[in-house]
Amino acid sequence: MRTYLVTGGAGFIGSNYIHYMFEKYGDTIRIINVDKLTYAGNLENLRSIEDRENYTFVKADICDTDVINEIFEENDIDRVVHFAAESHVDRSIKNPEVFVKTNVLGTLVMLNAAKAAWELEGGTFKEDKKFLHVSTDEVYGSLENEGEYFYETTPYNPHSPYSASKASADMLVKAYMDTYKFPANITNCSNNYGPYQFPEKLIPLIINNALQGKKLPVYGDGKNVRDWLYVEDHAKGIDMVQEKGKLFETYNIGGHNEKRNIEIIYIILDTLQEMLPDTDSRKKLISRDLITYVEDRKGHDRRYAIAPGKIKEEVGWEPDTMFTEGIKLTIKWFFEHEDWMRNVTSGEYKKYYEDMYK
Ligand code: NAD
Ligand code: DAU
Repeated sequence: MRTYLVTGGAGFIGSNYIHYMFEKYGDTIRIINVDKLTYAGNLENLRSIEDRENYTFVKADICDTDVINEIFEENDIDRVVHFAAESHVDRSIKNPEVFVKTNVLGTLVMLNAAKAAWELEGGTFKEDKKFLHVSTDEVYGSLENEGEYFYETTPYNPHSPYSASKASADMLVKAYMDTYKFPANITNCSNNYGPYQFPEKLIPLIINNALQGKKLPVYGDGKNVRDWLYVEDHAKGIDMVQEKGKLFETYNIGGHNEKRNIEIIYIILDTLQEMLPDTDSRKKLISRDLITYVEDRKGHDRRYAIAPGKIKEEVGWEPDTMFTEGIKLTIKWFFEHEDWMRNVTSGEYKKYYEDMYK
């Protein structure tokens, strides 16, 4: 039975990935999820699978070398899928240190632990051991002109402390592949949306605020472009790269779904109107009048857009869920998980929100 070590599996994409993997592979794999449970980690995301015999949760910091080494010593790990990171750009602008610690040093700890466990005498590696580092398109910087795309060959040009920390982590993974022939892949994905996304990010924040008749904060002129991918398609891409991709390669993951932020907000408002029954009192609260232009994000990247040709040709990956369907699935999920939203927006979130949007 193949054993996966997933880091950051209690977060948004990590938890969707774990659900995806158990749905696809059932009892034929084992997953160990290592997560520090920061503000972004939530075990509620994994409630439906937590009792499985082939699932183990370990609460730990990926920067803790001893604990991470111990996990590799006590388990014969076949696959590492490394999600754990500080992931929110706005938080990185206010407090960069933790981004460097977790995203850079934490990745180094993971690389060293996997290398120590998998390396054979003579510097080769045990058969069929693979490390996948989950990264972002933000490492490529910002596109200014229509028709330009991020390719795997696009030079790195990160702007925010978040993207600089992810770029640094990517460089470490590349260095381990080049220096030691360490068996790894890197994926650089565009903006994800879907179930379990923490409402500091644009789409869940707008859904949550709109349903409460709260202001909808738009940074700058609202014309910044992001390339949105349904999270399950990302999970599928990660699995396919690990099983069908060429070792040592980087793959961009994106579904050609570029939209201006203001467009996203209009779509969410229209979809909420369409999906809420007339009897639901929240329907009257939803209006474009809630849109409020606020001060721009510092160093705000203008446009992201992935060229997904390589993953399509070499791995056979394509997204299954188009945005019109994915946004409905997402809104439906939030309708059905009001308690989840209530729980994550109490406590620390309240303080963050008041400070961020004051
Ligand atoms: P998230 O913030 O929702 O989840 C991060 C998870 O990592 C949380 O469960 C948190 O508790 C855990 N974590 C943080 N610091 C840790 C530490 N020191 N030790 C152990 N666990 C720790 O993030 P996400 O949106 O799910 O992103 C996951 C990964 O995917 C990140 O590496 C991110 O850079 C990358 N990514 C995200 C997107 C996106 O749109 N969200 C797109 C492309 C790539
Ligand atoms: O591109 C991949 C990246 O996507 C990931 O690496 C990051 O982890 C993830 O957080 C996301 O980064 P963004 O900064 O693009 O996502 P965010 O949801 O924070 O913002 C999306 C766009 O919406 C961005 O242009 C800023 C804008 N925005 C965001 C918020 C939270 C607003 O206009 N208002 C808001 O309140």
